[in-house]
Amino acid sequence: MLEEKRTYVHALTHEIINFLNINRDKSIGTRLALERLVAMDLSMNQIMDTPAVGTRHENVLSKAIKEINKPELLGIAHALIRAKKYLAWREDNNNYYQHGDDVGKQYKTCNLHTLLIGPDACGYYQPDFLLGIFILGPWTFYRDHRHAAPELYLNLSEKSNWRLGTQDWQEYPAGSFVWNEAESVHATQVYDEPFISVFIWLENVMAPCVTFPVDDWTIIEANLHRKDNS
Ligand SMILES: [Fe+2]
Repeated sequence: MLEEKRTYVHALTHEIINFLNINRDKSIGTRLALERLVAMDLSMNQIMDTPAVGTRHENVLSKAIKEINKPELLGIAHALIRAKKYLAWREDNNNYYQHGDDVGKQYKTCNLHTLLIGPDACGYYQPDFLLGIFILGPWTFYRDHRHAAPELYLNLSEKSNWRLGTQDWQEYPAGSFVWNEAESVHATQVYDEPFISVFIWLENVMAPCVTFPVDDWTIIEANLHRKDNS
């Protein structure tokens, strides 16, 4: 069982790193993440013997993976399908957030992640770095927030909507990167399909996230479903 897990988690990790390498000029964050990754021993025998943890959001997870269809991302998608049952899938019940912060009702209803690399990962141990897969259910507004960890997203979903700092909302396609420097504010909107991404925190992974209130939260949450008819 451990050998199978090691085979599939190793393959998934290296599919992701391969994609980052091929696209290293697409984002400053890609290059910075690769600088950290090359310094790590990510050989198969370093993968930890941790128990798999399933999820109540299995349907959302399977659907999100199934809908990854950009040819360049199929290597990651197929590796994820094979690794899925060996991974520890966890929900953020505000444990990443400062006490009392509220990142939105839909976020709490359906968020999911697994850590391939990190202090509490089911793959490789690293004390101050995170690399994982992050999922949000359909019709989610993940409210504006910031954190001390510089963050790179690789969008696997066909479409997601991002507000970076005070810029206007912008849709990002599959295969695109979102780079959030330390303490820069960002928010995400997910429409009718679940959102799936690779996420990386480059350092300061123990510092909590903090919400950044914007006066349009109530309107965005009230109107999110209406995009269904547009
Ligand atoms: Fe973030």
